[in-house]
Amino acid sequence: MKAVIPAAGNGTRLSPATKVLPKEMFPLIDTPAIHMVVEEALSAGFDEVIVVISGVTSIIKPYLRKAFEDDKRGKIRFLVQDEPYGLGGAVLSASKAVNGEPFALLLPDEIFLGDTVAITQLIEAHYVKGASVIGASFVEEDEVSRYGMIILEPGLNRVAAFEEKPTATTSRQAMSGRYILTPGIFICLQKMKNNNHGGEISLTDALNLLLEDESIEMIELEGNRFDVGNKLGYLMANIEMGLRRPDLNGALKQYLMEVRERLIARGDEHA
Ligand code: UTP
Repeated sequence: MKAVIPAAGNGTRLSPATKVLPKEMFPLIDTPAIHMVVEEALSAGFDEVIVVISGVTSIIKPYLRKAFEDDKRGKIRFLVQDEPYGLGGAVLSASKAVNGEPFALLLPDEIFLGDTVAITQLIEAHYVKGASVIGASFVEEDEVSRYGMIILEPGLNRVAAFEEKPTATTSRQAMSGRYILTPGIFICLQKMKNNNHGGEISLTDALNLLLEDESIEMIELEGNRFDVGNKLGYLMANIEMGLRRPDLNGALKQYLMEVRERLIARGDEHA
């Protein structure tokens, strides 16, 4: 099975830096997010890791070539996004490379910190069910409008519908940037492209179309998820990683406690 990592977006939420530096190259302490997600795919054992880049994000290619040793570098392949229709277009650009097989999709602006490799958690479920599997994370009620939300069939892990950034919903399970998808998704994306009038092709809409023909399963992923494509998520991931690193943990913890004391002394009610 191959893995696809779309890294050709504009990253406007992290502008101005993203005018020249792709958000996937922003370091989490000292390691770019794209490095961590390629490492995740390689450690899950995929035969090939296809990274989709654009003119603006092309610096990812020389970086990954330098960052990985020969044995791993040989498994990383680059494609330029030739369908300018958002994330759906990036996935569609990989359809030939995936060659009619189920494939893993990892969004590099979502990272997981935990004991089990995030994408590995989906592979077994895919083989057992023979279906597409979507990774999910629990979110609070006031966060649902930021995510693609998953509505399940009652009492099952089978998806009934996906809702893109709803203002309100009964679900607390958000799509989390890790998927195993059957090639049926390319037919759905292509149909959407044919009816498209220049806008982005939404992966969520394509998944809803896929649901008309195939069942899709959901797995709640272990580990802490960070959306590093927005400012707050990026900051939080850096702090969390610092707290997990033995060389930084002590001094960082002390600094955070000092900050808290300062906020309390100032009468900050959220401290
Ligand atoms: P986003 O949906 O966050 O879009 O991408 P974006 O354009 O990068 O970011 P904002 O919203 O402008 O801040 C989710 C993932 O899909 C990739 C991105 O690189 C990111 O990893 N993507 C998005 C593409 O590969 N191509 C696209 O055309 C859009």
